Amino acid sequence: MCEEHSPHSPLQVRREQNGKPRRIMPFGMIERVVAEAAPHGLREVIPSTMGEPLLYEHFEDILDLCDRYGVKLNLTTNGTFPRLGAVAWAERIVPVTSDVKISWNGATKATHESIMLGSRWEKMVENVRAFIAVRDAHAEAGGNRCRITFQLTFLEANVAELADMVRLAIDFGVDRVKGHHLWVHFDEIRELSMRRSPEAIERWNQAVLEAREAASERALPNGKHVILENFLLLDSSATEDLAPGRPCPFLGREAWVSAVGRFDPCCAPDVQRRSLGEFGDLSAQSVMEIWNGEAYRELVTTYRNRYLCLSCNMRKPSGGKAWVGDLFKFRPAAHTTSTNTDTPPTPSALTRC
Ligand SMILES: C[S@@+](CC[C@H](N)C(=O)[O-])C[C@H]1O[C@@H](n2cnc3c(N)ncnc32)[C@H](O)[C@@H]1O
Ligand code: SF4
Repeated sequence: MCEEHSPHSPLQVRREQNGKPRRIMPFGMIERVVAEAAPHGLREVIPSTMGEPLLYEHFEDILDLCDRYGVKLNLTTNGTFPRLGAVAWAERIVPVTSDVKISWNGATKATHESIMLGSRWEKMVENVRAFIAVRDAHAEAGGNRCRITFQLTFLEANVAELADMVRLAIDFGVDRVKGHHLWVHFDEIRELSMRRSPEAIERWNQAVLEAREAASERALPNGKHVILENFLLLDSSATEDLAPGRPCPFLGREAWVSAVGRFDPCCAPDVQRRSLGEFGDLSAQSVMEIWNGEAYRELVTTYRNRYLCLSCNMRKPSGGKAWVGDLFKFRPAAHTTSTNTDTPPTPSALTRC
C-alpha cells in the first residue's frame, strides 16, 4: 500500500513508465536541514514514510547527526532490519531514538504475510524479540528507554485479528499498538477500508471493544499496560468524515521533506497532497523560511475549508488521547499560538510520527 512500492500506486506506475529510478535523498540535504532547524528547537527526526529507512545507505550517519544535535530519532520500519540484522541495528538505534514503530498487520502468519508482502512471519517475530531484548538491556543499564510500537493499518483483511495483535504485543513487551485507517487513494484498495460503509464501521467498532478488553487482560513484562492509539469507536458518518471539526494533527507542528527536497505539509498521498499547494524547495530555501512563509501560513489558517482536509484520515476523532504520526519529517515541540489563528506559530522544535 505504500506509495513508493505498491504495484497499484499511481506514483509508482508513473515513475516506472517514465523510466525513472527510485528517488533517494542526498545526505547533504538531511545534514543541512537538521543544522538549520536544530537552533529552532528541532525535537525529532523521522526518516522516511515512503520507503524502508534502514535500506538508506547513510542511515547510520543520520543516527550520528541525531547524537550530534541532541535530537531524537523517531523510526518507522518494516521490521526486516536489512543489512545489519535486528541486534546490531538495535544497538545503534536504541540510544538515540524516542520510538521505533514496527509495521505489523496480523496475529497469524497467513494474515501478516498476505498484507506485508515479502515478509516472513517467523523472522519478524525473532526480530521483534531480539530488538526488545537489546532495548530492555540498554534501559536496565541506565540508558535511554526507546519505546516500541506496533504500527498497524486498520483493514478489512486484519480487523478480525485486532485483539490478538494486542495480545501478541503484550507477549513481546511492545509498549504501544497504534494504527491508522487505510487512506484509500486508489480504487483497488477501497474494499479494504473499515470506513467504506456503516456495516464495516460496525465491525470496526466491535473489534475496538475486543481489542480494548485484550489490552486490559494483563500487563506488560514491565508492569505497565500496553497503550492503544487510535482504537476509537466511529460514528456511522465516518464514511465521509472520520473526525468532524477536529484539527489537523500536523500543520504548524510537523513538516515533511520529500526525497527531492520539496517541503510537504503532511503525509497525504502525493497526488492528493499537491492539491494543498506548493510551499518551497529545500535545495534552494531554508526550512524556517518556508515554515514562516506566506504559502504555508495561509494553509495553516485555511485548511479547514480544503476539500482534502475535510475527508482526511489523519485527523483524530474526539475521545482519543494525544496524537503521536522520501520523506523526512519534523515536529515542533510547542508553539505560541494555535494553528487556526492568523499569527504564525513559532516552532520551538521540529520532528515525525
Ligand atoms: C509506508 S510505511 C514506510 C515505512 C516502512 N518501510 C514500513 O513499512 O514501516 C509506513 C506505514 O504506513 C502504512 N501504510 C501504507 N499505505 C497506507 C495507506 N494507504 N493507508 C494507511 N496506512 C498505510 C504501512 O502499513 C506502514 O505501517
Ligand atoms: S490532508 Fe489536511 S488535515 Fe489531513 S494531514 Fe494533510 S493538511 Fe492535515
